[in-house]
Amino acid sequence: MGFPVHRLRRLRQNNNFRELVRETNLSVKDFIQPLFAVPGSGIRKEISALPGNYHLSIDCLVEEARQVRDLGIPAVLLFGVPETKDECASGAYSPDGIVQQAVRALKSMVPDILVITDVCSCEYTTHGHCGIIENGYLANDRSLELLAKITLSHAEAGADMVAPAAMLDGEIRAMRQILDAHGFHNLPIMGYSAKYASKLYDPFFKEGTHSTLSFGDKRTHQMDYSNSDEAMREIALDIEEGADIIMVKPALFYLDVVYRAKKEFQMPLAVYNVSGEYAMIDAAAKMGRLNRDAIMFEALTCLKRAGADLIITYFAKRAAKLLSEQHAEAFGKVPGETTISQVVPLPEPPVKKIKTP
Ligand code: PBG
Ligand code: ZN
Repeated sequence: MGFPVHRLRRLRQNNNFRELVRETNLSVKDFIQPLFAVPGSGIRKEISALPGNYHLSIDCLVEEARQVRDLGIPAVLLFGVPETKDECASGAYSPDGIVQQAVRALKSMVPDILVITDVCSCEYTTHGHCGIIENGYLANDRSLELLAKITLSHAEAGADMVAPAAMLDGEIRAMRQILDAHGFHNLPIMGYSAKYASKLYDPFFKEGTHSTLSFGDKRTHQMDYSNSDEAMREIALDIEEGADIIMVKPALFYLDVVYRAKKEFQMPLAVYNVSGEYAMIDAAAKMGRLNRDAIMFEALTCLKRAGADLIITYFAKRAAKLLSEQHAEAFGKVPGETTISQVVPLPEPPVKKIKTP
């Protein structure tokens, strides 16, 4: 029986109906805010490709983490941008490395926010690859040893959760082993389980962590974006090896993978709304083509609808701010319609001319 008995527009006719039957609700509790720690003090330098995100020396990082916590965001994902790099990423596991110092500062000054660390070598190697290079190839098992060392150093610094990003075979197992051997049985692992070789990381790689690949690319370890059965195998292996949370990365072009991952594995599922996804929305908003906040909420909500439980996003602070204003408006003084699409967007900065070669 169809029309005219059924009229799906009945439940769309006003905001109260729409809210009653809304299937997906975005919450600040779903967000993880990435943060970038740099050496020095008094540094708060905006990352040009990720406006609203900063390179932060530890004093400023602590302040930023307080703001993130005050917005109700439960966790940050910490990256380090070291002063010097070498062939074997020794800065990545040094007890006085930038991340280790940052974790200690955060856990002592802002103890009530979760500090998750990205575990990889590529920010710390001169060649920009995610481990040890042998004959021009990323050596898997030797790189695992390096990864285990980095993991232990993060745990010893006080990280609440570790997130291996290298896409080496056996990385969750190697990490679980070293953690358990040192008494960190309760430290969870969030695997970057299905991480694709994607050009969407370029803004992060170039401007976020100042990395460059001296040769080659990451297609011998990160996944081919043409595949999704393989993503299910990657995820299954991560779970078998002991991952507590699984992840699909990037997010917005990969919603089929997100959907499948949630359907096939009833596991906490994170998505990484990566730098290129953020930069595209930022660029379109600056050009006046898209409404930044409306698109931001649409993107984040659709990630959740597809199956994501946790969303790592450079929008976390902005979305949290708008969600709380909206909440205040809805439950505070002004009754009536307050929908995401009606959130008043923050003003755009003046348009900068983008030079085309
Ligand atoms: C690896 C890492 C990368 C990102 C997160 N962790 C870069 C890479 O694998 O090449 C990319 C995140 C983004 O683009 O926002 N340490
Ligand atoms: Zn890496």
